Formats: sequence, C-alpha cells, structure tokens
Amino acid sequence: MQITSAEFLKSCAKVSDLPGTHAPEYAFIGRSNVGKSSLINMLTAVKGLAQTSSKPGKTLLVNYFTINNSWFLVDLPGYGFAKVSKEERARLEQRIKSYIANREQLTNLFLLVDCRLEPQKIDLEFIDWLGENGIPFSIVFTKADKLSKKALDEHIAAYKQTLAETWENLPPIFCSSAETRMGRDELLDYIEEINRSL
Ligand code: GTP
Ligand code: MG
Repeated sequence: MQITSAEFLKSCAKVSDLPGTHAPEYAFIGRSNVGKSSLINMLTAVKGLAQTSSKPGKTLLVNYFTINNSWFLVDLPGYGFAKVSKEERARLEQRIKSYIANREQLTNLFLLVDCRLEPQKIDLEFIDWLGENGIPFSIVFTKADKLSKKALDEHIAAYKQTLAETWENLPPIFCSSAETRMGRDELLDYIEEINRSL
C-alpha cells in the first residue's frame, strides 16, 4: 500500500474526544520507549509526525493520525512507565484498556515488543488480557536493527514458544526497525488487506 497522505488529527484525553467517524483505526501499544511513535513515523514516512523521545512516557494522550484520508493510526501512551505514581499508572492503564475494549472502530491493535528483551511479565499479562477479551491484535518486534538476523530469529522462536505455553493459536508476528524500515511493506500490506476485508 502507498501512503499518499498522513496528517495529525488530534490528541484525545477522554472518550468524548475520540473521533465520531466510523473510519477503521489501527492502534499501537507497548511499554514506554518501545518505539510506538517511531514506528508510526516510519510507516507514514513522515519524520516527526508522532513525537518521539529517548525519555519514556512522552505520549500521554491518545493521538490520532489520518492516513490516505480514509483510516487512522493511533498512538497510545506506553504502559509500565516507572516515573509516575502507582495511582497515576493504574489510572492510565485503565484508560488505555477501556479504549481498547470498547472502541468499535479499533480494527487491529499492534502490540510492540523490544526484540532484545526476554518475554516480560507485563507484556505477557497484557497479551493474556487481549486474548481473554477477544481483541484482534498482532505482535510487532521493534528495534530489529539492534540484533543480528540470527539472534533475531532465535529470539522470535523463543518468544513464540513462550506464547505457545498459553495460546493454541498465535497472533500474526512482525519484525520492524524504524532505522532500516524493516517490516514497513509487510505491515502496510497487512493493514491494506484488513481494510479491503471490511
Ligand atoms: P512513549 O511514547 O514514551 O511510550 O515511547 P514510544 O514507544 O513512542 O517510543 P519512541 O518512538 O519515542 O522511541 C523511544 C526511543 O527508541 C527513541 O530514542 C527512538 O529513537 C528509539 N527507537 C525507536 N524505534 C527504534 C528502532 O527501530 N531502532 C532503534 N535503533 N531505535 C529506535
Ligand atoms: Mg510515543
């Protein structure tokens, strides 16, 4: 799929701010600093469209980007950000989960995982929650430029094995790099396929 236009639409702090249209939306979730905003910039090929930061916790609102005037990419706040209070973190997590569970326009959720890390409890618990709630999702390994091809393949195989302990059917899995643009065509083709099927 070609991206012909990508524009920031708005930041939403509460449910009533969410767009009222029925355009399909694809949201990005994952731990703080995993590379959600960078992946959106890589997919759209618009540098600086989604704000990135080497400091975790940059995205505190639900940010909407209109793509090809017909569908949305949605940048969600990262979870697990340690520098806010426990209460604030719980509130943010509740808000994200409420959006994910209740938003009818959410066509697919991309759960981002840093390809260098062993399976993390926080991500596995989140995956369990998605499965239990019947949320359509895919896993995207990020920062693939940081590993050799061999290490990446081994890591993904081990991750799949961990997931297979709990889940009979594994979600689609992608590898990406905002640096090398690895995974861009695969992810855009995947979105296009879903858009066509709607
Ligand atoms: P929050 O909004 O805080 O939740 O973070 P985020 O998940 O949106 O992460 P962001 O895109 O801001 O990236 C965090 C840091 O990781 C930045 O310093 C990025 O430059 C870096 N980064 C993101 N993606 C990649 C990648 O594919 N490769 C490399 N090498 N660095 C990356
Ligand atoms: Mg971000």
